Amino acid sequence: MIPPFQIASGPRVRFGRGQTEFIGEEAQSLGMKRPMLLTDPGLATAGVLKPVMDSMQKAGIGFCLFEQAEPNPSDESILRAKEFYESNDCDSMVAAGGGSSIDTAKAMGALLSNGGKISDYYGADKVPNRVPPFITVPTTAGTGSEVTRASIVTDIERGTKASIHSDALYAHVAVVDSSLLATLPHYFAAGALMDALTHAIESIGSPRANPWTEAMCMQAIGFIGQNARIFVKNPADADAADACALAATLAGASFTNTGLGIVHGLTHPVFNYFGGHHGTTNGTLLATVMKFNLPAMREKYALMAPLLANPSGGTTSAEEPGTAESAIESVHVLARDIGIPLTLGAIGVKEEFLDRMALEAAASSTVATNPVPANAADMKKIYLELLD
Ligand SMILES: [Fe+2]
Repeated sequence: MIPPFQIASGPRVRFGRGQTEFIGEEAQSLGMKRPMLLTDPGLATAGVLKPVMDSMQKAGIGFCLFEQAEPNPSDESILRAKEFYESNDCDSMVAAGGGSSIDTAKAMGALLSNGGKISDYYGADKVPNRVPPFITVPTTAGTGSEVTRASIVTDIERGTKASIHSDALYAHVAVVDSSLLATLPHYFAAGALMDALTHAIESIGSPRANPWTEAMCMQAIGFIGQNARIFVKNPADADAADACALAATLAGASFTNTGLGIVHGLTHPVFNYFGGHHGTTNGTLLATVMKFNLPAMREKYALMAPLLANPSGGTTSAEEPGTAESAIESVHVLARDIGIPLTLGAIGVKEEFLDRMALEAAASSTVATNPVPANAADMKKIYLELLD
């Protein structure tokens, strides 16, 4: 018997190369008159957003361009975005970029529809009213934020990351067009993709995983395992970019229903003390955390193993292909092949911070959805194993 489960619906997804040209139509049908187009600095000038802007212009939608979405958006930067929205009389949101601009829009949207302070909404299901009409357009294959109910906020005063989880944050439409990824720099392509792979593997390990989410994750893992190397080398490759873009969206749609595991719990303190790229740090940690989780994950890792095996063969040293151990080895080799740092030392982590970081990681909500219980001592051991 399949145990009972629930799946939240999320936005309608419009997937496919060139689908950006329909954003104007989508904006019209959502009744947008004056959307705020939120994006990361430089994306509009680099020409990445030209198809997005062209589509809205063609549909006669006068948008207001806001290019100051911060990476790992702080509460202060979200308030600045809200001021821009209000002073320009915007009525809706189109967020095009990485997770940062999309997360900024979600948190801003919660404030616009509900008032109050951002911290009022930290935690789960605390946002009563849905965000204004909202279209998401990812320009990386990574966070899955285009289809998730979460916004991660850097709380400056508390010096930590906080998250808002609510169905009220869902976009109305997500347009996933892999042609927008064509000029992604290798470093970001690799880091974002390891974020997506971490989402899929952690979601499968969650006690809240179910056949629906597992199907999405297995598809995502296969897409990444078979296409990551080609995509990172050449993000303009249409087949590889489609596979990686869809993988990221599928993994997002899954983990927003299941929660994540301790890779994310361990990555957030690294960011708090040393900065760095979220997905890249996940990529450094993923194989080692898989090893830690192996006792509870042997069967599922074995199912992933053929999906993760290097399609050009030859690089997996595990003695038995198709085993749980070979899945872990394949993740390690993939990270190495696409240029992810293999130690935390390489991204600046210092040993004297590990006790504090381990305590923070052990207090993370991701511990509850990790397949194996993990305390601060376990977290420190994982950090130490990866230090250099
Ligand atoms: Fe992530």
